Amino acid sequence: MKRLAGKSALITGSARGIGQAFAQAYIGEGATVAIADINLERARATASELGPQAYPVRMDVTEQASIDAAFAEVISKTGKLDILVNNAALFDLAPITQITRDSYERLFSINVAGTLFTLQAAARQMISQGHGGKIINMASQAGRRGEALVGVYCASKAAVISLTQSAGLNLIKHGINVNAIAPGVVDGEHWDGVDALFAKYENRPAGEKKRLVGQEVPYGRMGTAEDLTGMAIFLASSESDYIVAQTYNVDGGNWMS
Ligand SMILES: NC(=O)c1ccc[n+]([C@@H]2O[C@H](COP(=O)([O-])OP(=O)(O)OC[C@H]3O[C@@H](n4cnc5c(N)ncnc54)[C@H](O)[C@@H]3O)[C@@H](O)[C@H]2O)c1
Repeated sequence: MKRLAGKSALITGSARGIGQAFAQAYIGEGATVAIADINLERARATASELGPQAYPVRMDVTEQASIDAAFAEVISKTGKLDILVNNAALFDLAPITQITRDSYERLFSINVAGTLFTLQAAARQMISQGHGGKIINMASQAGRRGEALVGVYCASKAAVISLTQSAGLNLIKHGINVNAIAPGVVDGEHWDGVDALFAKYENRPAGEKKRLVGQEVPYGRMGTAEDLTGMAIFLASSESDYIVAQTYNVDGGNWMS
């Protein structure tokens, strides 16, 4: 029996990377998935790669009108929303003395406000449907601690963990489970950008930081998007009904709490 048979899911930022892998995994478990991304061209390509249970939706999580339009599109396509994954996010890096307001505002508007107001739209929809739902936020090991060069991103992911707790407590009375996944270091296009920023600020050759962070993972290597899909399916399925307001580390042993 497929664990997400007949479910309607929306995954933000799923045109590539971890979101794309989650979409593929959900489809494999029987769900229909909105590939919701600011990059519509890439969302279209990803959806056509994933097959008929995937469809592209243009969505900018920093714009309320875009969030509302994306949810309207999901409802007109599938008639309901059962699962939201708040996955879209942006990374940046700078020493404290060089952080710019522009960087702060961009990261907080996507990672924090984007997560909150997309979660809110999903909760309103799920409450109106009357049979609960599943909301999964993408946090990070960066939200568990500060990092010398990663102040804004770390703070934004700490906020995601906190919002997961508050929303989880507030929405469980409607049968809506809100939980989060905290990955460690996950290989992919995202980390190519992260590596380039560390190369700049730590004066390293390209590729060195990525190699080092992989070596430091207790499991022995960087994660892959596929390492996270088991948790993503579990948190979207009825097997996690009694789990409320939690953030799970899926990071090869990098962080324990
Ligand atoms: N890759 C890692 O090492 C890692 C580690 C910990 C946590 N995470 C988290 O996992 C999630 C996915 O990471 P990833 O590595 O796949 O990232 P990614 O950069 O590869 O993908 C992010 C996607 O979000 C989309 N996006 C950007 N701005 C958007 C907006 N305003 N509205 C809608 N979509 C937008 C991008 O177009 C892109 O498709 C993020 O929340 C990230 O913070 C990643």
